[in-house]
Amino acid sequence: MERAKRKLEHIDFALKTGQQRKSGLEDISFIHQSLPGISLNNVDLTVEIGGLNLSSPIFINAMTGGGGLETEKLNGDLAIAARETGIAMAVGSQMAAIKDSGQQASFKVARQENPNGVLIGNLGGEATVEQAKRASDMIEADALQIHLNVIQELTMPEGDRNFAGTLSRIEEINRCLGVPMIVKEVGFGMSKETVEQLLSVGVSIIDVGGFGGTNFAKIENERRAKILSYFNEWGIPTAASIVEAVNVSPALSVIGSGGIQCPLEITKSLALGAKGVGLAGHFLKLYKELGLAQLIKEINYIHEDLKIIMTALGAANISELRKTKIVIAGNTYHWLTQRGID
Ligand code: FNR
Repeated sequence: MERAKRKLEHIDFALKTGQQRKSGLEDISFIHQSLPGISLNNVDLTVEIGGLNLSSPIFINAMTGGGGLETEKLNGDLAIAARETGIAMAVGSQMAAIKDSGQQASFKVARQENPNGVLIGNLGGEATVEQAKRASDMIEADALQIHLNVIQELTMPEGDRNFAGTLSRIEEINRCLGVPMIVKEVGFGMSKETVEQLLSVGVSIIDVGGFGGTNFAKIENERRAKILSYFNEWGIPTAASIVEAVNVSPALSVIGSGGIQCPLEITKSLALGAKGVGLAGHFLKLYKELGLAQLIKEINYIHEDLKIIMTALGAANISELRKTKIVIAGNTYHWLTQRGID
């Protein structure tokens, strides 16, 4: 039950350490156009990401690992929110349920609550092909996320210290899984070098999981006596990470995430070239503080606001939004200039 306790602490500390608001998306500006030339009624939010047909570019990102009754309640309620709003949802790490089948109910509940929705499984980079298949079968997953969380593990007193072989395991899972695989970070971002390595072994969907929102270095530092404070500011901000990943290859589907909370940040992420946007900490906070009904309302508001912003920009669909012109200022401009990315 050590794992379950840790996962519950993650939820508490994620709420306590809060959102940092330094995702770099504040450096992105849209260019106002006085003749957008489209009608709000014709704005279409559907998108295809690596073979997944989605009615919305936003989804509930992985949060609910660990097993236990609290996980079951959270997964069930988040699945209801996903069902009621038509968005996709990823469950948190299923490793607890792979190691102890008594924990499977905590994850299966998501499929029971949303039988026809797009549901994404989740395991870490230590997973084998066999574990990946079991995680995917457990929830009849439409896709599987594999998370990379080196800094979290290093900050965690009981965390992994050996990161050898992850890339070849990912290659193997991708080859054998049978549903699309998404490789994601958990709030430290992905560099173009990492994305190039992943692409070289056949990965085609990347969730950048950038710096600027939930901070697992801070969360784990809350749980240890000797603090590794140097990791608290470690990571690639979300805006820069999206551009790093998008520029690697047009063959990739890039998902923007990390500190994203509002419709404007969602549209900015898509305008940087992301195809979808994951929200974790913000949805968790809304759910914990205001409840399920309010979370559902908020997701519906986000959809309305996305359409309003897209109308102002003259972007009738997500592929037009991804081509919208933007201006990049501040730290994000400097980051991308020094990295030789335009
Ligand atoms: C997470 N996240 C996460 N990611 C993952 O791949 N597997 C997991 O089990 C978890 N667990 C988890 C628990 C809690 C409480 C939170 C808040 C987050 C990371 C999450 O999916 C996301 O990558 C980061 O939180 C960054 O996005 P936000 O929170 O800034 O929107």
